[in-house]
Amino acid sequence: MAQYDVIVIGSGPGGYVCAIRCAQLGLKTACVEGRDTLGGTCLNVGCIPSKALLHASHMLHEAEHNFTKMGLKGKSPSVDWKTMLAYKDDVIGQNTKGIEFLFKKNKVDWLKGWGSIPEAGKVKVGDEVHEAKNIVIATGSEASSLPGVEVDEKVVVTSTGALELGKVPKSMVVIGAGVIGLEMGSVYARLGTEVTVVEYLDQITPGMDGEIAKTFQRTLKKQGLTFVMGAAVQGVEALKTKAKVTYKTKKKDEEVTIDADIVLVATGRKPYTDGLGLKDLGVEVSDRGMVKTDDHWATNVKGVYAIGDCIDGPMLAHKAEDEGMAVAEVMAGKKGHVNYGVIPGVVYTTPEVAAVGKTEEQLKDEGRAYKVGKFSFMGNGRAKAVFQGEGFVKLLADKETDRILGCHILGPSAGDLIHEVCVAMEFGASAQDLALTCHAHPTYSEAVREAALACGDGAIHA
Ligand code: NAI
Repeated sequence: MAQYDVIVIGSGPGGYVCAIRCAQLGLKTACVEGRDTLGGTCLNVGCIPSKALLHASHMLHEAEHNFTKMGLKGKSPSVDWKTMLAYKDDVIGQNTKGIEFLFKKNKVDWLKGWGSIPEAGKVKVGDEVHEAKNIVIATGSEASSLPGVEVDEKVVVTSTGALELGKVPKSMVVIGAGVIGLEMGSVYARLGTEVTVVEYLDQITPGMDGEIAKTFQRTLKKQGLTFVMGAAVQGVEALKTKAKVTYKTKKKDEEVTIDADIVLVATGRKPYTDGLGLKDLGVEVSDRGMVKTDDHWATNVKGVYAIGDCIDGPMLAHKAEDEGMAVAEVMAGKKGHVNYGVIPGVVYTTPEVAAVGKTEEQLKDEGRAYKVGKFSFMGNGRAKAVFQGEGFVKLLADKETDRILGCHILGPSAGDLIHEVCVAMEFGASAQDLALTCHAHPTYSEAVREAALACGDGAIHA
């Protein structure tokens, strides 16, 4: 029986990062993973493969819509779907092997198989039981479906099946206008699929700043996506090569049925803790299946911690990573900390959407006095040069102190731009601090500075 300081169950971004940090801090560490490759949902069937398809389909879109404008003539490329999927699989392979390399480099043992916790201090993998002073549950989440909807991953798919379709469908209904629905919907719309997004709420991407969400939806409409808002899906009938989606609109209260080659169910995810034996172990779980933890990611069972999608908070890979590093510090006797007020969120469409901190709606609800600095990418030379003038930066700052409270960006490389605001917020910076920081010209990030200037005496290029 092997003896470890820490055994991490799950090798997604939370788990593998935690394992590596534990090893770096001198703890003898193993990570349990039952898939054939490391990296969890994110690397195998989530963030990374979807980014490969988003990139490929964006390139096609550029060739079809912008190449001739730049004097690049010739036949537009056509889609070789098999090769596109092979490219995506190659990207996955490079990344998952990368983690295997990092495990070897840091001397983290990979315990292959599905783990369970028969008692505190023990992890069972296959027939073997391993001992560990501390155990970290990092088992992530799985797609949650709807009543009346049976997923077969062929015609009615989750994001997993959507990354592996046999061919590019002629039509697709996406249930749910959240991040997954819009990213995958964008991919297929660019590849020529007729995409209809059916959303229960009146706004896309719940929780996003309202003004950004409205403009974002307009942008996606222009790209060919059709939206049915305020519509609750009642059921999906899967036929052999097609499916029928029935929804009821809130306004008319009438049932409507639409056909599609593929139905993507993107109505959220739920914690995945099956087979761990949490009930017998006595680990407390919330009504929604989330493992309950204290401020230091400890469950109610001594020596058992939990991080990532299976605990409370946004289901984001980078939130899990941060928790993974922090809990490693805690287990090593140091101080681990995650600032939940500064966790960016990104939607990887084109243009991208990124956000950190409070939305304007949240500030209003809190009755906080704030000011808004906005800057359109139409005033940014670099963005205009590459047909990316759509969108804007919206910076929110405290009316009295000028301290940055939030930032919301719809525009080119928004997912990268947001990080200067994250750093600024970590340092408690004011909008003026950003405005006084020299930004290279010509860069997209000048738009962030201009939004900061707009919080004060005014933007220059507006
Ligand atoms: P989501 O929670 O973001 O959105 C689900 C949407 O489905 C909501 O707008 C909801 O109103 C709608 N909905 C629910 N039931 C419905 C019904 N019966 N009829 C019509 N609409 C209905 O969930 P999503 O997009 O599946 O993502 C799951 C998780 O994965 C999220 O926490 C997300 O943050 C995370 N994720 C993050 C990514 C990123 O950061 N780029 C990428 C992919 C996933």
